[in-house]
Amino acid sequence: MVDTTPSDLNVVLKSFTFGGSEKSQESLTVSIPEVLEPQYGMYVWPSAVVLAQYVWTHRAELVGKTLLELGAGVSLPGVVAARCGSRVILSDSARLPLCLDNCKRSCAANGLEGVCVVGLTWGEISPDLVLLPALHVILGSDVFYEPEDFEDVIVTVAFLLRKNPTAEFWTTYQERSADWSIEALLRKWKLRCVSVPLVSFNANSSQLAGSTLPGRHVVQMLIVSLDTEPL
Ligand SMILES: C[S@@+](CC[C@H](N)C(=O)[O-])C[C@H]1O[C@@H](n2cnc3c(N)ncnc32)[C@H](O)[C@@H]1O
Repeated sequence: MVDTTPSDLNVVLKSFTFGGSEKSQESLTVSIPEVLEPQYGMYVWPSAVVLAQYVWTHRAELVGKTLLELGAGVSLPGVVAARCGSRVILSDSARLPLCLDNCKRSCAANGLEGVCVVGLTWGEISPDLVLLPALHVILGSDVFYEPEDFEDVIVTVAFLLRKNPTAEFWTTYQERSADWSIEALLRKWKLRCVSVPLVSFNANSSQLAGSTLPGRHVVQMLIVSLDTEPL
């Protein structure tokens, strides 16, 4: 469903409804304001719906847990987690205040008052990064979209996982080139990952959460954690 808000003609509200299948009556609808501006962090990307579906599927184990979303943009996965009872911190680049405004706007559209929004630029060990509380899960949807930024994302994730050794990084990415890979970087930063089949959380569909995303895009999901195997 798409609706324009009267106060700001450049913003459209998109609704996403999770659940409500034949198996379970339980459902959640969230509204995400998208800004009609040509910037990456203004829209819900196909990977975000898939990650939000994973969060929704695991909502029972996330109640009361602390989650940080990196490169959140309009923050669909983080908003779903917060609506399901997680303590959520949303972040985007400290140099992109408009994207941080999007995080705040998405919280306001869903009546979320306790969600913290911080500027965290990948690869920078800033005071805001160092001062984060203990984390259980780090979320990142479509944060691997510019190969030149891959190592910066992984440096931030590696820093956070070393500080929170039992935490996991849940990430979805859109396949844009067969040549792109983060495997060597994960090994370099002593991280490991497992691939999560989309079918295991009912996300293997071109339409999810009542939206036409992910459409024809191929999205993959990984869980990244510290590699604790001895060399
Ligand atoms: C492709 S968009 C994905 C947005 C959102 N996670 C989604 O899937 O709908 C990439 C996001 O990363 C953010 N970003 C780009 N460079 C960044 C950086 N150096 N540090 C932190 N965030 C960054 C952008 O502002 C944008 O919100």
